[in-house]
Amino acid sequence: MNLSLKLKLFTAILIGLCFSVSIAELERFEHPAKADGSLSVLVVGDWGRKGNYNQSQVALQMGKTGEKSDIDFIISTGDNFYEDGLTGVDDPAFEESFSNIYTAPSLQKQWYTVLGNHDYRGDVLAQINPILTKKDRRWLCLRSYILNAEIVEFFFVDTTPFRDKYFTETDHTYDWRGVLPRKEYLSNLLKDVDSALSESSARWKIVVGHHTMRSAGQHGNTVELVAKLLPILQANNVDLYINGHDHCLQHISSPDSPLQFLTSGGGSKAWRGDVSWWDPKEMKLYYDGQGFMTLQITLNEIDVVFYDIIGNVLHKWSVTKQVYAAE
Ligand SMILES: *[C@@H]1O[C@H](CO)[C@@H](O)[C@H](O)[C@H]1NC(C)=O
Repeated sequence: MNLSLKLKLFTAILIGLCFSVSIAELERFEHPAKADGSLSVLVVGDWGRKGNYNQSQVALQMGKTGEKSDIDFIISTGDNFYEDGLTGVDDPAFEESFSNIYTAPSLQKQWYTVLGNHDYRGDVLAQINPILTKKDRRWLCLRSYILNAEIVEFFFVDTTPFRDKYFTETDHTYDWRGVLPRKEYLSNLLKDVDSALSESSARWKIVVGHHTMRSAGQHGNTVELVAKLLPILQANNVDLYINGHDHCLQHISSPDSPLQFLTSGGGSKAWRGDVSWWDPKEMKLYYDGQGFMTLQITLNEIDVVFYDIIGNVLHKWSVTKQVYAAE
């Protein structure tokens, strides 16, 4: 090999390295906490049905609860547009299922959104296109990203590409642009999530994805996530894993760690009666109707509250961390 060829090869490798590093890093966003350092968040999932299946009623109650809880922002756990995502950036479903539904004053906040499997059945690039943010400034949807909200860091993870069956099933098609080659995509993602979590110095760490990890609902546990993502969450002392996918409200604790599994997938069509047995020692809530969840976060405490469609509190749960007390 002559010198100029070696040089070219070296340059190519360097460029390749820079490129893989730059695409590998998760994008970061910041959201300020309230003046007193606290934060209030509303979480909804599995919603976009043009108001049908009680989506509008859930939205109405979200508005009332959002007002009372003085929420700072909203998290969507995915399956934003049924049945098949958006057809493009001009799909009227964006207005019909989002802008024209969540109209309450308290919901005019930033939405932080992930993609669900139904979103991958449409034009997936449309849903993550910044043009949608121009149409409705509340909208922020990316595949995977980090949200630093001072006392808490949220890690949004694109879970759909983990699921083997979507790559083999024939009754639906998925838009895998940006995901292939899949093995590389997943290993980069896991590496990025792992390093971002281990570098985080936030008081609380919360991971958000569409798919379940532990669930007694119709879909049950997502075995691929349990195998690949769960160990990373446990190793990095993540406090909460929040998901949708199963159309219910659910809280399951861990037998072997403080990590809690919270499902907020009750944004529209609920799956009544669709529940499997789960150890009652771990199952804190299973509600098979519609609703949503709020998180009240302070330096020392997170309060989780689940609400039904008329604002009844279904379940409350709190976790505390002691402040270091100077002698
Ligand atoms: C809408 O909510 C009401 C009240 O919870 C419930 O009785 C009704 O079955 C729901 N409708 C649908 C389509 O889910």
